[in-house]
Amino acid sequence: MVFLFSIGLFLTVMCLVVLGINAWVLIDTLLSTEVPPSIPHPMKLRILYYIFHLMVTWGTIFEKLRICSMPRFFQTIQDAMATKRNHNVAVTDLRFGEVPVRLFQPKATSSSPRRGILFYHGGGAVAGSLDYFHSLCSFLAQETDSVLLAVGYRKLPGYCHPFAIQDCVNASIHFLKSPKAYGVDPSRVVVCGESLGGTAAAVVTQTLLGRPDLPPIRAQVLIYPILQAINLQLPSHLQNQNIPLLTTCIMFTFMFRYLAIDSSWKDAILTGANVPPDTWMKYRKWLDSDNIPQRFRDKFQQPKLPAPFNKAAYLETKHMQDPGFSPLLADNEVIAQLPEALLVSMHWDILRDDTLLYKKRLEDQGVPVTWYNVEDGFHGCIALFDNKTFSFPCSWSLINAIVSFTKGI
Ligand SMILES: *[C@@H]1O[C@H](CO)[C@@H](O)[C@H](O)[C@H]1NC(C)=O
Repeated sequence: MVFLFSIGLFLTVMCLVVLGINAWVLIDTLLSTEVPPSIPHPMKLRILYYIFHLMVTWGTIFEKLRICSMPRFFQTIQDAMATKRNHNVAVTDLRFGEVPVRLFQPKATSSSPRRGILFYHGGGAVAGSLDYFHSLCSFLAQETDSVLLAVGYRKLPGYCHPFAIQDCVNASIHFLKSPKAYGVDPSRVVVCGESLGGTAAAVVTQTLLGRPDLPPIRAQVLIYPILQAINLQLPSHLQNQNIPLLTTCIMFTFMFRYLAIDSSWKDAILTGANVPPDTWMKYRKWLDSDNIPQRFRDKFQQPKLPAPFNKAAYLETKHMQDPGFSPLLADNEVIAQLPEALLVSMHWDILRDDTLLYKKRLEDQGVPVTWYNVEDGFHGCIALFDNKTFSFPCSWSLINAIVSFTKGI
């Protein structure tokens, strides 16, 4: 009797704790996020962010209880929710060395080799997987009649920077050594990535320039990428810091984990105190908000940057400032050799201005750029394109832009 009573009490307390945490996350979601009026279905976006926030919060709690790491928890839930539609393409799982990859080939016969797409998904190396992006990849392969290789780079909890990006580079080299084996025309290979995968696409394109043993990449498609981690006070960072899905808070949570940086350096990073004065001098011309068109700077107060230099912060964070994570900082000679690009920014995204700055760098060096700013877009919307409950028009605007650009290659 006493035993049953104790169990009953225990269950009641547990239920209250769970409800309390969920309620706290709900209140935090309502108080700390804002949804701009130009995004249709604001309620859907809030609910989506609530679920996202719950997954991060519960993952962090399980991690503290040593049950399971936050990234593992997040990925498990996300994969369980993924719908894997095949859109009339043949799908083959392969491994390039340690890296799992998935090949999507249109089923229709073709008399000549097809265009190739190397695809790197996003998720900050915390979230995202081949399964979660399966429908998108098969849809892109089918719509553009291309052979698409998706790279399932290694991620957290086991692998932090530079594994994700380096795996993308290595898998791409492997593919480019024998494109014909996959029915791909070597002169028509496009690299395409979203979010951290967009960073990977930019790094892959820069790294493989001028390799005599590989066919040159024909074009790059960067979808709301992160391209630099030096100036985190650009107008988009300040204007959109509380807009789902990538709030500043979530960006730091994911970025600290991927880069294995202690969260105590947040203020130093935000104020640029971790950047040596000569680095600021060297890169200011590319990172200044003056490079961003006026309409994106409305109501923007230029913050005083940087704070006095903090050498300890620099030593702990200097890998953020390397072109291997900040490809926007590559030299002019590198930028000038890049192939034509499609750059897609989301208007309501803290990373929007990275795309605007890269666009300017490419154009200043004579590289042809097609740029599309999705006016009602928010970070992370691409994978929702065929989601029955949480779909937004911006996912389709974005996908149509990618499809029409790719078909022209
Ligand atoms: C990528 O390939 C290079 C050269 O083969 C190798 O040294 C490196 O360890 C590989 N990187 C990863 C992350 O496996």
